[in-house]
Amino acid sequence: MKIVVINGTPRKYGRTRIAAKHMADTLNAHLIDLSTMDLPMFNGDKDQSSLANVQLLDETAREADAFIWLSPEYHGGLSGALKNCLDFLNGDHFKQKPVLLFSVAGGGKGGINSLNQMRLIGRALYAHVVPNQMVLDPHCFIREENRLTEEAAEKVQSNLDEFKQFAERMTR
Ligand SMILES: Cc1cc2nc3c(=O)[nH]c(=O)nc-3n(C[C@H](O)[C@H](O)[C@H](O)COP(=O)(O)O)c2cc1C
Repeated sequence: MKIVVINGTPRKYGRTRIAAKHMADTLNAHLIDLSTMDLPMFNGDKDQSSLANVQLLDETAREADAFIWLSPEYHGGLSGALKNCLDFLNGDHFKQKPVLLFSVAGGGKGGINSLNQMRLIGRALYAHVVPNQMVLDPHCFIREENRLTEEAAEKVQSNLDEFKQFAERMTR
């Protein structure tokens, strides 16, 4: 089963990227890293579809069986980078496919907004966004070591295990 993890932070040193890399490594999944991918701003022009990164995104998403979307919470919402990436895609890439959501927030009880917005977008793309979801606050990270704490990693793992089981049942 091909799981694709989308890192929705535009920041190379973002916490979301740490979490996304952790998940991609753990699941042996493909990582779409929006902090390094250099996607242009979607403008609907036909010539954008011939750009190498846009084609790569299209092919990777088309071949995926399941997705994990991670977004930072920015100003009470999902990141512009993730929304822009999803605007290049459509229901053909997501229909009937399971999606698991994570938000990375500032620790002031944020995160739920980007989760809810991603959930709405997933519905618009005909994806099966699973009910489980998780917010990762700054205390979930050991910043100097660019990794999740043991406690956060365990909680993430339990979400990933349950998601993988569900995705395997759906793709059987
Ligand atoms: C532009 C911007 C807006 C932010 N707005 C919020 C917010 O509304 N709620 C919140 O909980 N955290 C907010 N934060 C904090 C981020 O969610 C937090 O720093 C998180 O680590 C961001 O993910 P990143 O490090 O991958 O970029 C904001 C940070 C930035 C840079």
